[in-house]
Amino acid sequence: MIKKTLDEKAFQLLKEKMDKGLFPQWVLTDPDIYELEKENIFGRTWQFLAHESELKEPGDYVTRWMVNDPVIVSKNREGEIKAFLNSCSHRGVHLCTADRGNKKTFTCPYHGWSYNLEGELIGIVAGNKVYGGEMDKGDWGLREIPQIASYQGMIFGNLDKDAISLEDYLGEMKWYLDLMLGRSDGGMEVRGLPQRWVAKANWKATAENFAADPYHVQTTHRSTVEMGISPEDPLYAGYGHQVVMENGHGINVITSKTGKARVPFQATPESMWPMFEKNLTPEQLDIQSRVTVFVGGMYPNLSFVSPIHGTEGHLHNYLNFRLWRPIGPDKVEVWCWFMIDKSAPEEYKEAAYRGYLGSFGPTGTLEVDDTENWARIVEVSSGLMARDKHLNYNSINNYLMGFERVEPDSNFQGPGTAYPTTYIDAIARSMHEQWFKLISEGVMMKEEIV
Ligand code: FES
Ligand SMILES: [Fe+2]
Repeated sequence: MIKKTLDEKAFQLLKEKMDKGLFPQWVLTDPDIYELEKENIFGRTWQFLAHESELKEPGDYVTRWMVNDPVIVSKNREGEIKAFLNSCSHRGVHLCTADRGNKKTFTCPYHGWSYNLEGELIGIVAGNKVYGGEMDKGDWGLREIPQIASYQGMIFGNLDKDAISLEDYLGEMKWYLDLMLGRSDGGMEVRGLPQRWVAKANWKATAENFAADPYHVQTTHRSTVEMGISPEDPLYAGYGHQVVMENGHGINVITSKTGKARVPFQATPESMWPMFEKNLTPEQLDIQSRVTVFVGGMYPNLSFVSPIHGTEGHLHNYLNFRLWRPIGPDKVEVWCWFMIDKSAPEEYKEAAYRGYLGSFGPTGTLEVDDTENWARIVEVSSGLMARDKHLNYNSINNYLMGFERVEPDSNFQGPGTAYPTTYIDAIARSMHEQWFKLISEGVMMKEEIV
């Protein structure tokens, strides 16, 4: 097997820039860097696969991707979640191409081998005549994804059997996931299928846009101000805290200028508030009562946004998870899940879903604005002059807009390092540091045979 690593010279050049907080633009679209990322980042970090509410009954399955590895995620008869490489053991055919369904067996369209919900090979067409009694079916089951685990209903997989546990990987982020996913009785549920589309973009830029960059909101999404959906104040998305956590995770807790609630409990129905009081700690409850938007991400490529959406009198809150599946250095397949409290009133869920479609769905106003910028980044990043051009992470030493030094706020109630503004590059820098750490681990030769 060829193990890809960064060569020593490239490592030194990159390190020099990264140490100064500069991010070279060429790495956004470089094909060699992309190959390294596939192996060193996506080959050993936890990738989101599905939410448990997508797999209700035994036999329910969904098909997903871990970058280039197709995956079947299914529920077996005992109610356990399993994840297999979606590739037949005989000639490797992509076994199941439906988005989701319910099955007892998966049958290959090529020669008809079939597998049960445990991934075991159970049927071979004309088996005895073709293979005689020699073949041990037990050797030819589907390959299991080396590790799968769930947290708050979110199912993740890891292609590295030696990777740290999901809980350790999420670390401090669990506190915020408990808040967003565990606030109401029954937790969150996915409504409909995840929508997906291909965007001209690099996964690092899309992940950073969501997890680390409320600063873009007032310009990119200016039209929402003009429509009266967002406030006029250009700092409106900057109030609150940006919280940096280990392993490249981060969250922005956006509030109002005064820190008080613009609308209590993110415009959820009042009937749900007692559940929040019951399920959350006092610190989590306080944040939930005042927050306008949670937006953040789990490194490397899962982001989320939980906004208040709509106009006065018709406000709703929902939770949108999105996975940036890289399908090339300059393309991502966006997977977009709409989630809502299972215990919310049905009419509220429906209205929130419509609000989501008009905002962060594939044709939503906010989504379209962002997509345009991501395409513009990749269009210009592989030019010759981009080779020694570096991107501006304005607050390299935590300077806000280059002037005022911002210290962490020790009074913030949640875990992580919290800065008292979200117009800061603290999460972006931490994501890039994590990126560099992962791609450069094991720097040796460009290609090492192992
Ligand atoms: S490739 Fe699947 S049965 Fe032959
Ligand atoms: Fe945006």
